[in-house]
Amino acid sequence: MKLAIGADHGGYVLKKEVVDFLSKIKNIEVVDYGTSGPESVDYPDFGKKVSEAVSNGTADRGILICGTGIGMSIVANRFPKVRAALCHDNFTARMSRLHNDANVLVMGERVIGRGVALDIVKTWLETEFEGSRHQRRLDKIEQIERSVGGK
Ligand code: RB5
Repeated sequence: MKLAIGADHGGYVLKKEVVDFLSKIKNIEVVDYGTSGPESVDYPDFGKKVSEAVSNGTADRGILICGTGIGMSIVANRFPKVRAALCHDNFTARMSRLHNDANVLVMGERVIGRGVALDIVKTWLETEFEGSRHQRRLDKIEQIERSVGGK
Protein backbone atom coordinates (compact mmCIF):
# COMPACT_ATOMS: atom_id res chain seq x y z
CA MET A 1 0.00 0.00 0.00
CA LYS A 2 1.24 3.46 -0.90
CA LEU A 3 0.48 5.89 1.92
CA ALA A 4 0.85 9.68 1.72
CA ILE A 5 1.38 11.57 4.97
CA GLY A 6 1.47 15.27 5.81
CA ALA A 7 1.19 17.69 8.70
CA ASP A 8 1.52 21.34 9.61
CA HIS A 9 3.63 22.69 12.50
CA GLY A 10 0.86 21.64 14.90
CA GLY A 11 1.23 18.01 13.84
CA TYR A 12 4.79 17.44 12.72
CA VAL A 13 6.02 15.81 15.98
CA LEU A 14 3.25 13.22 15.87
CA LYS A 15 3.81 12.77 12.12
CA LYS A 16 7.42 11.79 12.85
CA GLU A 17 6.19 9.16 15.34
CA VAL A 18 3.67 7.82 12.86
CA VAL A 19 6.26 7.64 10.05
CA ASP A 20 8.60 5.68 12.39
CA PHE A 21 5.74 3.35 13.30
CA LEU A 22 4.79 2.79 9.65
CA SER A 23 8.38 2.10 8.63
CA LYS A 24 8.20 -1.11 10.73
CA ILE A 25 5.12 -2.40 8.92
CA LYS A 26 5.67 -4.58 5.86
CA ASN A 27 4.04 -3.71 2.53
CA ILE A 28 3.56 -0.02 3.31
CA GLU A 29 5.41 2.55 1.27
CA VAL A 30 5.25 5.94 2.98
CA VAL A 31 5.57 9.19 1.05
CA ASP A 32 6.13 12.11 3.43
CA TYR A 33 4.86 15.44 2.07
CA GLY A 34 6.14 17.48 5.08
CA THR A 35 6.26 19.70 7.01
CA SER A 36 9.30 18.64 8.95
CA GLY A 37 9.96 21.39 11.46
CA PRO A 38 8.31 23.67 14.03
CA GLU A 39 8.20 26.74 11.78
CA SER A 40 4.68 28.01 11.30
CA VAL A 41 3.15 26.90 7.99
CA ASP A 42 -0.39 26.84 6.58
CA TYR A 43 -2.19 23.51 6.96
CA PRO A 44 -4.10 23.84 3.61
CA ASP A 45 -0.78 23.61 1.71
CA PHE A 46 0.07 20.23 3.23
CA GLY A 47 -3.50 18.98 3.32
CA LYS A 48 -3.70 19.68 -0.41
CA LYS A 49 -0.60 17.64 -1.28
CA VAL A 50 -1.77 14.50 0.52
CA SER A 51 -5.41 14.84 -0.56
CA GLU A 52 -4.42 15.37 -4.18
CA ALA A 53 -2.28 12.22 -4.07
CA VAL A 54 -5.22 10.16 -2.76
CA SER A 55 -7.73 11.84 -5.05
CA ASN A 56 -5.73 11.16 -8.23
CA GLY A 57 -4.65 7.65 -7.23
CA THR A 58 -0.94 8.39 -6.67
CA ALA A 59 -1.49 7.11 -3.12
CA ASP A 60 -3.92 4.46 -1.88
CA ARG A 61 -4.43 6.11 1.50
CA GLY A 62 -3.43 9.26 3.36
CA ILE A 63 -2.77 10.44 6.90
CA LEU A 64 -3.02 14.12 7.85
CA ILE A 65 -2.17 15.70 11.19
CA CYS A 66 -2.60 19.25 12.46
CA GLY A 67 -3.20 20.70 15.91
CA THR A 68 -6.86 19.71 16.18
CA GLY A 69 -7.32 17.71 12.97
CA ILE A 70 -10.20 20.01 12.08
CA GLY A 71 -8.47 22.18 9.48
CA MET A 72 -6.97 19.18 7.69
CA SER A 73 -10.38 17.45 7.62
CA ILE A 74 -12.00 20.48 6.04
CA VAL A 75 -9.30 20.65 3.36
CA ALA A 76 -9.20 16.93 2.59
CA ASN A 77 -12.94 16.53 2.13
CA ARG A 78 -12.92 19.16 -0.63
CA PHE A 79 -11.13 16.69 -2.91
CA PRO A 80 -13.04 14.31 -5.18
CA LYS A 81 -13.01 10.68 -3.97
CA VAL A 82 -11.43 11.63 -0.64
CA ARG A 83 -13.25 10.36 2.43
CA ALA A 84 -11.35 11.89 5.33
CA ALA A 85 -12.19 10.93 8.91
CA LEU A 86 -11.05 12.81 11.99
CA CYS A 87 -10.49 10.12 14.61
CA HIS A 88 -9.80 10.56 18.31
CA ASP A 89 -9.97 6.95 19.45
CA ASN A 90 -10.04 3.33 18.34
CA PHE A 91 -13.82 3.24 17.99
CA THR A 92 -13.98 6.13 15.53
CA ALA A 93 -10.97 4.73 13.65
CA ARG A 94 -12.60 1.31 13.29
CA MET A 95 -15.98 2.71 12.30
CA SER A 96 -14.41 5.09 9.77
CA ARG A 97 -13.16 2.01 7.92
CA LEU A 98 -16.09 -0.38 8.48
CA HIS A 99 -18.86 2.05 7.54
CA ASN A 100 -17.23 4.95 5.67
CA ASP A 101 -14.30 3.31 3.86
CA ALA A 102 -12.26 6.35 4.94
CA ASN A 103 -9.20 6.69 2.73
CA VAL A 104 -7.66 9.58 4.68
CA LEU A 105 -7.13 9.41 8.44
CA VAL A 106 -6.92 12.75 10.23
CA MET A 107 -5.67 13.25 13.78
CA GLY A 108 -5.04 16.21 16.09
CA GLU A 109 -1.65 16.22 17.80
CA ARG A 110 -2.94 18.64 20.46
CA VAL A 111 -5.93 16.40 21.18
CA ILE A 112 -4.55 12.87 21.57
CA GLY A 113 -1.33 11.36 22.88
CA ARG A 114 1.22 9.28 20.99
CA GLY A 115 -0.05 5.92 22.31
CA VAL A 116 -3.65 6.56 21.31
CA ALA A 117 -2.54 7.91 17.92
CA LEU A 118 -0.47 4.84 17.06
CA ASP A 119 -3.32 2.56 18.17
CA ILE A 120 -5.65 4.51 15.89
CA VAL A 121 -3.26 4.13 12.94
CA LYS A 122 -2.95 0.37 13.53
CA THR A 123 -6.71 -0.15 13.76
CA TRP A 124 -7.36 2.07 10.76
CA LEU A 125 -4.91 0.13 8.61
CA GLU A 126 -6.12 -3.29 9.72
CA THR A 127 -9.88 -2.76 9.42
CA GLU A 128 -11.63 -3.56 6.13
CA PHE A 129 -14.69 -1.80 4.71
CA GLU A 130 -17.93 -3.75 5.33
CA GLY A 131 -19.56 -2.84 2.02
CA SER A 132 -23.24 -3.73 1.44
CA ARG A 133 -25.60 -0.96 2.67
CA HIS A 134 -22.60 1.22 3.43
CA GLN A 135 -21.51 1.08 -0.22
CA ARG A 136 -24.94 2.40 -1.22
CA ARG A 137 -24.39 5.37 1.09
CA LEU A 138 -20.92 6.04 -0.32
CA ASP A 139 -22.42 5.93 -3.83
CA LYS A 140 -24.84 8.64 -2.71
CA ILE A 141 -21.94 10.75 -1.48
CA GLU A 142 -20.32 10.41 -4.91
CA GLN A 143 -23.57 11.47 -6.56
CA ILE A 144 -23.69 14.53 -4.33
CA GLU A 145 -20.05 15.28 -5.17
CA ARG A 146 -20.81 15.13 -8.90
CA SER A 147 -23.94 17.26 -8.51
CA VAL A 148 -22.00 20.06 -6.80
CA GLY A 149 -19.28 20.15 -9.45
CA GLY A 150 -16.69 17.56 -8.40
CA LYS A 151 -15.36 14.93 -10.82
C1 RB5 B 1 -2.23 25.81 13.88
O1 RB5 B 1 -2.02 26.68 14.93
C2 RB5 B 1 -3.60 25.17 13.98
O2 RB5 B 1 -4.59 26.13 13.73
C3 RB5 B 1 -3.72 24.01 13.04
O3 RB5 B 1 -2.74 23.08 13.34
C4 RB5 B 1 -5.03 23.24 13.08
O4 RB5 B 1 -5.37 22.87 14.37
C5 RB5 B 1 -6.15 23.83 12.33
O5 RB5 B 1 -7.26 23.30 12.27
